[in-house]
Amino acid sequence: MNYLFSFIFLFFILIFSQDDLQISMQKGKKIYEANCVTCHGNNGEGSPSIFPPLAKSDYLMSNTTRAIKQIHFGLSSKIIVNGKTYQGNMPASGLSPQQITDVMNYITNSWGNKNKETIKLKEVKKILGK
Ligand code: HEC
Repeated sequence: MNYLFSFIFLFFILIFSQDDLQISMQKGKKIYEANCVTCHGNNGEGSPSIFPPLAKSDYLMSNTTRAIKQIHFGLSSKIIVNGKTYQGNMPASGLSPQQITDVMNYITNSWGNKNKETIKLKEVKKILGK
């Protein structure tokens, strides 16, 4: 009997945590389309030597904390994404911590990217010191 209860419990956790991610990603898609798509492209493909890709970006996926800060503060230092060097200028997004959470969940789970963990608002606020 205990096993059955544990199983049901875990099943619900799984369902609910997936829902969280789906909802956040849906909001994130809209934020992406309004704020990021002009430079990073419809499918996160970027633009050769000007805008780095987000799709299958080793740089993005290896450090999501860094990405959260870069979306918030902007970025203009030299970076290497999938073996190619970029030195452009991304302006500070002006997005709220909630919007950054959602757009991060979208970009780290789209176009072949898969994030092991759902990014939470609480973490983003902590990273940004808010
Ligand atoms: C005006 C064009 C522009 C816009 C708009 C823009 N970016 Fe960027 N983004 C860049 C450039 C240029 C770089 C590389 C900066 C550098 O070379 O230092 C970059 C780098 C990045 C990186 C790290 C590199 C990578 O490819 O993994 C991430 C993540 C990122 N942008 C996400 C976003 C998100 C999310 C948005 C929308 C909220 C956004 N960007 C909006 C131009 C832009």
